Amino acid sequence: MAAPISTLACSSSSIFINFRSISHLGFSISANPSLFFCSKRMAHVVAKATLGLTHPAQIHHPKISFAAKETDLVEWKGDILAVGITEKDMAKDENSKFQNSILKKLDSQLHGLLSEVTTEEDFTGKAGQSTAVRLAGLGSKRVNLIGIGKVPTGSSTFAYRSLGESVASAAKASQANNVAIALASSEGLTPEMKLATASAIAKGTLLGTYEDNRFKSESKKSALKSVDLFGLGAGPELEKKLKYTEDVCAGMILGKELVNAPANVLTPGVLAEEAEKIASAFSDVLTATILDTEQCKELKMGSYLGVAAASTNPPKFIHLCYKPPSGSIKTKLAIVGKGLTFDSGGYNIKTGPGCLIEMMKVDMGGSAAVLGAAKALGQIKPAGVEVHFIVAACENMISGTGMRPGDILTASNGKTIEVNNTDAEGRLTLADALVYACNQGVDKIVDLATLTGACVVALGPSIAGIFTPSDELSKEVVAASEVAGEKLWRLPMEESYWESMKSGVADMVNTGGRQGGSITAALFLKQFVDEKVQWLHIDMAGPVWNDKKKAATGFAIPTLVEWVLSNASS
Ligand code: BES
Ligand code: MN
Ligand code: ZN
Repeated sequence: MAAPISTLACSSSSIFINFRSISHLGFSISANPSLFFCSKRMAHVVAKATLGLTHPAQIHHPKISFAAKETDLVEWKGDILAVGITEKDMAKDENSKFQNSILKKLDSQLHGLLSEVTTEEDFTGKAGQSTAVRLAGLGSKRVNLIGIGKVPTGSSTFAYRSLGESVASAAKASQANNVAIALASSEGLTPEMKLATASAIAKGTLLGTYEDNRFKSESKKSALKSVDLFGLGAGPELEKKLKYTEDVCAGMILGKELVNAPANVLTPGVLAEEAEKIASAFSDVLTATILDTEQCKELKMGSYLGVAAASTNPPKFIHLCYKPPSGSIKTKLAIVGKGLTFDSGGYNIKTGPGCLIEMMKVDMGGSAAVLGAAKALGQIKPAGVEVHFIVAACENMISGTGMRPGDILTASNGKTIEVNNTDAEGRLTLADALVYACNQGVDKIVDLATLTGACVVALGPSIAGIFTPSDELSKEVVAASEVAGEKLWRLPMEESYWESMKSGVADMVNTGGRQGGSITAALFLKQFVDEKVQWLHIDMAGPVWNDKKKAATGFAIPTLVEWVLSNASS
């Protein structure tokens, strides 16, 4: 469906599209689908020419309904009955029969077929293993056995999320409409663990079903519509948890789409429009303020504007404000994200193998997390917290109007910066964004940035580094990340390393050499945060992108939502 917008304009397929389920991120879609699809007059307004004439196609977001079932599994009728199995569940008795009651029952219904298949295919319940049986004996068309490895202990979010993902890909492969998911042994789970398990499975299924095909001319869609969850309880608490999971996933999908979109499509202006769309979709709780170059000049944001100066795509300073629908406000928070829609490095251009210049569309991953969280929270509407979502969006390019290495910039708190490397631009934009956040009178700030390659070297591709002078805020955010199933690791803010950030002519330089590069970056940011405000910085240069899947991850959005809720009043 990646036809140019004009050919889509009056397509009859529009009637099948449920507006609630369309992407926020057509980027060029009018807020009103009927105008978008059927008005020639609107078409020229919305179909902005982007470089390379690329226009994202509409994508159908998966609308999957989840239901908790407590009926007999064997009676279930539908396309796929998926059973999550641990290695322990595969134990057999002296007659080579399953000991596990669910497997035993299914096996006897199938006249021993499960035993046979698992032995033949050497299915032992190891994580990642799966085997399918096509059958006529049960109400379901096929049974899929999916390995979840060792008996999950403690935070088992990962195993259950993978189970959901496996179900999603099995459903896609066989174009299943409905599936049932059960665990071979769910009886031992506490009610709380059941909620977390159901949520992790739902998350895996939703995100596994989702595919970003906006820029492909052809794609196969999943047909999955409904998922019945067995043995994980039922009732209003579970329903609430599943609704919450869906809201978080919707935020993650938005975040993924923002990061996946190339820089010729997602300019700072388009990012600002996306922010405005979120605010208007949740206008009961969110308001948007977008500042242009002139307004940023008035606020003396010289550090941010220095970075933006080379680009013909003008910078946009984005500020969404969340206020609860009613009641008083107990805590004021800010979430600040690095929003470089592209980072060429500037005059210190990224060159040479491994510099990843071709990946630098991901350099707005922090801002994608901010907007994804804003969307989820707009839906969840927590009480007692005010949240400011802030992004100083721009591009780091090269031109005669751009900043030079050696230039001195003056940030909005009056501090001066000698730019000894134009490729350390993220911290320059965050400097003014952090000053702005402090001016909102907030109690706590979390910032997120794809800030340093050094952090990827230190922690690898799936762990983000966190930096904060506050043990208390560190605990809060780490606790949120554990619930969310995301990996953070605290690194030290070693003050003695500030030595390398001293300048002969200005208050500081912007880079301090290769050693401890993520730490000096964090120390730089600290110069722009009020001491009264609790602040934590997340360097997510590694986890923003999944190299294997060649796609954005939506990283940090679940953690941010959990963190805001942990500051809310119930
Ligand atoms: N956007 C990059 C960091 C990055 C690297 C993000 C890899 C995602 C993947 C950042 O602006 C940058 O260029 N950092 C420099 C800092 C250096 C000049 C001190 C780096 O990491 O090399
Ligand atoms: Mn850079
Ligand atoms: Zn960058």
